[in-house]
Amino acid sequence: MKILYYNSKEEGSKKASNIIIDNLKSNPKIVLGLATGSTPETLYKYIIEDSQKENLSFKNVVSFNLDEYVGLNESDEDQSYKFFMDNHLFKYIDINKNNTHFPIDFRDKEIKENYDEYDNLIKKSGGIDIQILGIGNNGHIAFNEPGSDINSKTRLINLTESTIKANSRFFTSISDVPKQAVSMGLGTINKSKKIILLAFGEAKREALERLIDAKSFDINWPCTSLFNHNDLTIITDIKL
Ligand code: F6R
Repeated sequence: MKILYYNSKEEGSKKASNIIIDNLKSNPKIVLGLATGSTPETLYKYIIEDSQKENLSFKNVVSFNLDEYVGLNESDEDQSYKFFMDNHLFKYIDINKNNTHFPIDFRDKEIKENYDEYDNLIKKSGGIDIQILGIGNNGHIAFNEPGSDINSKTRLINLTESTIKANSRFFTSISDVPKQAVSMGLGTINKSKKIILLAFGEAKREALERLIDAKSFDINWPCTSLFNHNDLTIITDIKL
């Protein structure tokens, strides 16, 4: 585990962008695992800027997003993670939309318990080369809430009250926040060849400390599933 401290989210995000751009240069067919939420917004801004400066193409890049909401109201479709990715990254780069993947289409009405086909598709694509992660205040990664199995695969998740509350800032009312999502599992994420976890702001301190101090997996802190990953870089502005 490598921990890189920066004074600000801006500086930390710039570093993360540099890592991704360098890897894209050496592997134009890179498979990226992508996160949404407020954490990676600045990273995506830098990826757009830096790749434009260097005239880099995403034409052959493949992406897999971590998660997607289930049961969004029609009026809240702009809160879908697909919408987020279009608006924060995809529409500014030349990625082929057919190469971008989400565990579920947010408009799907037929919801299943398990989405093994997503894990299989990731495997068929050669596995995730770099996975970008944020972290929840309660230690969730993707939407793997406390209680998630370390070997879990892509599946339907019931969001906890604390996650619904944290995400309500993006909705008119807390009752509009979806109660469920489909998320890559902890096992799926752990198979990524390289992981960059971004944690900015004091609210993430406890979760981050739990991960950094972990000697084994603690089911109450899903982030600890990464404790023995062999290529995990944490980028943070939290002084530890
Ligand atoms: C989003 C995701 C979530 C977020 C986490 C932190 O794709 O998987 O785990 O990374 O909830 O959210 P923010 O970045 O909004 O603090």
